[in-house]
Amino acid sequence: MGQIFIANPKGGCGKTTVAVQLAGFYANTARAVRLVDHDAQRSSLDWAAGRPSACPPIEVRFFAEQSFAQCDVSAITIHDMPAAWTLDNVDTLIRPQDTVIIPLLASPTDIKACLRFIMGVYRSGLLERGVTIGIVANRVRTNTRYFKVLEAFLAKLDIPLITVLRDSQNYVRAMDRGLTLFDLPASRCSTDRAQWQPLLDWLPIVDP
Ligand SMILES: Nc1ncnc2c1ncn2[C@@H]1O[C@H](COP(=O)(O)OP(=O)(O)O)[C@@H](O)[C@H]1O
Ligand SMILES: [Mg+2]
Repeated sequence: MGQIFIANPKGGCGKTTVAVQLAGFYANTARAVRLVDHDAQRSSLDWAAGRPSACPPIEVRFFAEQSFAQCDVSAITIHDMPAAWTLDNVDTLIRPQDTVIIPLLASPTDIKACLRFIMGVYRSGLLERGVTIGIVANRVRTNTRYFKVLEAFLAKLDIPLITVLRDSQNYVRAMDRGLTLFDLPASRCSTDRAQWQPLLDWLPIVDP
């Protein structure tokens, strides 16, 4: 089974948010889920420390190095990659059956930084090796000028935009309590949950 890597060297674009939400989704479908925190800030670990014991469990590990041994494949494994990771060791880390999600904010600084990362992705040969790669636009306000700039940027890439997540306090509140949207009553976050569906449909997850 493939592993899911959440990567973008820019801090604050939503790597931990996407990693944690996906872990919460799969845990709530009764699958075994492992969340691997590679970031020195340990935000995924902090989040997991506050997770109520009544919630579906998520195994969280910390790897300071990016050169970790491949995890066993009995659980859905989600990697929250570190800020400033610019594809070091990518050939040994990421295999053809794996998926890379790039969260991206609609700001000029983030788009420029992401362009450098995506140039690296092209040079790395990941796409030729068959690795599935997609972009998640995060904290988006669709009626802004910078969303149009983001759309124009994405139109030039071979990497698809999978979904658009709005800026929502539901993420901030859930993070604070060790929860995800998928641990909350659907009625409280239906707009936000609906925005995850294209990503969940796109991910090539098969049960272990
Ligand atoms: N869609 C969103 N709506 C509101 N706040 C968000 C959203 N995505 C991320 N955030 C907040 O932005 C900050 C940075 O997000 P985070 O996931 O920690 O980024 P990264 O792991 O890439 O550094 C966090 O405080 C997080 O709660
Ligand atoms: Mg983080």
